[in-house]
Amino acid sequence: MNNFTFYNPVKILFGKAQIAALTSEIPADAKVLVTYGGGSIKKNGVYDQVMAALSGRTVTEFGGIEPNPHYETLMKAVNQAKQEQVNFVLAVGGGSVIDGTKFIVAAMEYEGADAWDILAKKAPVKKAVPFGTVLTLPATGSEMNSGSVITKAETKEKFSFGSPLTFPKFSILDPETTYTLPVRQISNGIVDAYTHVLEQYLTYPVNAPLQDRMAESILLTLKEEGPKAVENPQDYDTMANFMWCATMALNGVIRVGVPTDWATHYIGHELTALHGIDHARTLAIVLPSLLRYKQETKKEKLLQYGQRVWGVDAGTEDERIEATIQATVAFFESLDIKTTLADYEVGQETVKEIVRRFEERGVKNLGEHADIQIKDVEEILTMSL
Ligand code: NZQ
Ligand code: ZN
Repeated sequence: MNNFTFYNPVKILFGKAQIAALTSEIPADAKVLVTYGGGSIKKNGVYDQVMAALSGRTVTEFGGIEPNPHYETLMKAVNQAKQEQVNFVLAVGGGSVIDGTKFIVAAMEYEGADAWDILAKKAPVKKAVPFGTVLTLPATGSEMNSGSVITKAETKEKFSFGSPLTFPKFSILDPETTYTLPVRQISNGIVDAYTHVLEQYLTYPVNAPLQDRMAESILLTLKEEGPKAVENPQDYDTMANFMWCATMALNGVIRVGVPTDWATHYIGHELTALHGIDHARTLAIVLPSLLRYKQETKKEKLLQYGQRVWGVDAGTEDERIEATIQATVAFFESLDIKTTLADYEVGQETVKEIVRRFEERGVKNLGEHADIQIKDVEEILTMSL
């Protein structure tokens, strides 16, 4: 096992009626800014529950944070929050609202000329306003990690940042808030969480059987509960299990002491930036090709994954690996997530454009062996056409 440091200070309040706990989680004298998305929380009663829990407080709000949150929108929130001297932010929504809020709290305290540098130049976050979250969409794990992915609409760039200062102080996970999710978002959430696990598991063995089995247990649970969630999004137990899987998939626990890949995410972000394809769908496009392309260096873990998660144990090693990748693709497709670029009407020009961007940016050494170069990205994407 590799050396590691593990730090995760996020307090989780999980279950029915936990939104009421906001009363005690947010300091009584705080000036609170509530951030949210396009309005789903106003239709499903979550907004009302939040406002009831915050009654008697100094509260203002900023709505309209879009999926794949835009820097341009978030800077408006930063200006508003500074003007109102906000000192606590509450994000209510999915990964986009939470990621957007992480950027808002960092940008509010940023002293450089342009807060976009936090993303484009990895300018360090030295201070951030505290924030909490009420999660309404199980998918990203953003509720229990410190990462954030932000898009600049003007240039169609999608970059990530993270800092120990951008962990939420707390996150409220009430599975009942997910009852109104459209099937498309449930499927996205399952595939995103599933791929988070694979990016931290399908690398090479370092004799970390506990991390392996924890990863496999999340995969197996998503495989069981995912289809049930799509079928019946108002079943409390199903949504509770799905929600906790998604959080556990990216809160740092399964990553400790093991190599991680993340090339699928890095490449996928370009597809969202250029074509607006939902995040999870970009992963479903890139991952199968990446696994096929890197099957030699991922061989041992691919065989283990196939055997333990999909029961693949017949045939030669090559046959088992192919059967395992096909089982993964079939799982995504069963959730109505398409897995080729053609399915999204994206062609060769986009592959060329991504190569051009990566060259300009000097992208190199992706993946757990730091051996995926731009020419490999081109081949992987070409395999996904
Ligand atoms: O905006 P509203 O009206 O709230 O509607 C949203 C949005 O249209 C809707 N929704 C959310 N909860 C709902 C609901 N509709 C009905 N009922 C509910 N309970 O769902 C739509 C999508 O929301 P969004 O937040 O964009 O989805 P998701 O949670 O999948 O977040 C995706 C973003 O997270 C980033 C992605 O890149 C993308 O920008 N990621 C963040 C990560 C992190 N911070 O660790 C890791 C991930 O790999 C990912 O990159
Ligand atoms: Zn993801």
